[in-house]
Amino acid sequence: MTRVLCEAALQSESSQTLDPQNWDEIRAQGHRMLDDMIDYAANIRERPVWTPIPDAVRARFHAELPLKPSDLADVYREFTECIVPYATGNVHPGFMGWVHGGGTAVGMLAEMLAAGLNANLGGRDHMPIEVERQIVEWMRAMFGFPSEASGIFVTGTSMANLMAVLVARTAALGRPVRQRGVGDQGALLTAYTSTAAHGCITKAMDIAGFGSDALRCVEVDRSHRIDVAALRARIAADRSAGLKPFLVVGSAGTVDIGAIDDLQALSSLCRDEGLWFHVDGAYGALGILSPAIAPRLAGVENADSIALDFHKWGQVPYDAGFLMVRDGRQHRETFSAPAAYLRRETRGLAAGSSWPCDLGPDLSRGFRALKTWFTLKTYGTEKLGAMITRTCALAGYLEMRILAEPQLELLAPVQLNIVCFRYRAADANKVNGDIVVDIQESGIAAPSTTVIDGQLAIRAAIVNHRTDTCDIDALISAVLEFGAQRSRSDHGRVVEVEQSPPLAM
Ligand SMILES: Cc1ncc(COP(=O)(O)O)c(C=O)c1O
Repeated sequence: MTRVLCEAALQSESSQTLDPQNWDEIRAQGHRMLDDMIDYAANIRERPVWTPIPDAVRARFHAELPLKPSDLADVYREFTECIVPYATGNVHPGFMGWVHGGGTAVGMLAEMLAAGLNANLGGRDHMPIEVERQIVEWMRAMFGFPSEASGIFVTGTSMANLMAVLVARTAALGRPVRQRGVGDQGALLTAYTSTAAHGCITKAMDIAGFGSDALRCVEVDRSHRIDVAALRARIAADRSAGLKPFLVVGSAGTVDIGAIDDLQALSSLCRDEGLWFHVDGAYGALGILSPAIAPRLAGVENADSIALDFHKWGQVPYDAGFLMVRDGRQHRETFSAPAAYLRRETRGLAAGSSWPCDLGPDLSRGFRALKTWFTLKTYGTEKLGAMITRTCALAGYLEMRILAEPQLELLAPVQLNIVCFRYRAADANKVNGDIVVDIQESGIAAPSTTVIDGQLAIRAAIVNHRTDTCDIDALISAVLEFGAQRSRSDHGRVVEVEQSPPLAM
């Protein structure tokens, strides 16, 4: 800047800082916001689960890039009028769609504190990084991982799974893969998961440079668990064809129905075959906190890497994904990238290496660890485990209600906290798709859909710690009511009820 420009800028208006002119005013406004958000959570049952955004609101909301300042109170009013009433709805106990956690007031407050500190957790020597390291230590203890295991917060399990594939890639091809790409050797590598695995595994293979065809999606048994014998056969066939199997991804809680693969059998197979064993535990891995579920996760302690989300069953506000790698050295080998401007020191602010930026693609990183630390400290793992057990009990209650209603039909065994069912109807796929949208638009509940054996299912994932039996009852009543309406309007009659054979559990 020229001197003239500098002087002009320094002489302009009293202060160009973004701090408030009057701290008392922002304090009062802040207290109002805090009270409102605590009321929002406390009185969430008084709201519809979800409300479609009216065209007028959408139109009113979209505005020109603001050039001039506005009063914080006015901006906040716009938030309360245009944003709050049309949020996703997952804070509400009636939200059962996809796999969404409900969040907590504790997590919300911790998020505010994190924003106040405005810490960048890419690296350097400060206490917020120790908070993340503390969580890593707790995760090692929770999953029986060794002290050299590394861990890092990421956005979500999609990212954690991608990073795990990249670590497995480096383990298979060595560090030079980072300079030379996967090359001819990489073209021979094959990975394995089940047909029930989450789509982000396919995406990860694509992004990692293998191509999604290199992922073998092995068939599942009646409980939607990977068929380990078929997996073994597929690996053998690929080896015979000159390919190089390198990775198996097991699911701890499949996205559609909550099946947990036989992790013990997968870990033995991977040990025998010399393969990287990754567990996608997006929501199911935290089942380790529930004495009822933990035994079904046996084998997870042998994984080479685990991906999970605290924002699902852990109820930490979005987002809080996590990756843990048994061999921290291999994790660092995959992502560390020295740079002059990131020079490490033995003292001063640039001390404390290794830094989280050595464990993933991000350099600038927020303080996701704080809301997770507050959640674990405030509730303790026993209470969180009991809450997780209860969501599964509620899924069992929903299953019982479905089995008692002749007009309803269970479409998959209930193994965890996810229930897939449908209303019996002539054009069942269409009718059930309509029922789900009707229920969402009614504000009574928010289930989602999936397809099980070619049949569209109403899918209720009980993840939210606030959900209770009354929410399950409301869902059942709504399905029966909208189902009857849809069947009448679409076909002029309610279909005859057929008894299906009971599902194997
Ligand atoms: C089994 C499984 N894996 C991966 C994911 C993706 O997780 P995220 O949405 O946090 O990226 C999900 C999401 O529901 C999931 O259920």
